[in-house]
Amino acid sequence: MATKGKFIVFEGTDGSGKSTQMKMLGKYLKTKGIPVYGTHEPTESPFGALLRSCLTGRVETDERAIAALFAADRIDHITNSVNGLLKKLDEGVTVLCDRYYFSSFAYNGGFVPLDWVIELNKPAMSLLRPDLTIFLDIPAEESMRRVARRGETERYETMDRQKRIRDKYFDIFRMFEGRENVAVIRSEEDKERTQANIRAAADKLFGGEK
Ligand code: TYD
Repeated sequence: MATKGKFIVFEGTDGSGKSTQMKMLGKYLKTKGIPVYGTHEPTESPFGALLRSCLTGRVETDERAIAALFAADRIDHITNSVNGLLKKLDEGVTVLCDRYYFSSFAYNGGFVPLDWVIELNKPAMSLLRPDLTIFLDIPAEESMRRVARRGETERYETMDRQKRIRDKYFDIFRMFEGRENVAVIRSEEDKERTQANIRAAADKLFGGEK
């Protein structure tokens, strides 16, 4: 049987450079001969599509419904029999995932009681914990500048919200200290420097593996 793949999650506020850095890490791991699968939440499934409509405001709904949908999207992402994360990991594939349950705690936990969001995510937490969560840290001002450059605005993208979400991430990391493997890495203008720090954190997971 193949050695199980590693599960590496990228977290951060909007504009923190997660998707770019995740792609760069994927390329690097592949050069080391490690099979990699990149994915993200909200997913591309019908749950994810509905969530995106809620986030852009095209579909109007309650924050509790959104939090529950994120949890449902996540459970499906993990367990789906066609391309679920557990299946990939069992096949020996390393999974890189843009956002996971810490996003629910930091974003949705700002609008509905955090305890409840954690409760909703208990199934995901018992099914699949990340081997490593990389939090790309960026000051709220810089994050807004980068998001404005992309020309997108979504439900959560105002300066005040970015600040609150960043604070919330740190509160939650403290709360889960010792139970979760989190690396906080400063997202710098110099992408290569950021990537070097990410690689150093990821390399530790693979030990002697080539
Ligand atoms: P998207 O544009 O897909 O991703 P990103 O901002 O990472 O490039 O938007 C995802 C949004 O969904 C983002 O604002 C965070 C939010 N979100 C939650 O509120 N809860 C969650 O559980 C997840 C996974 C994301």
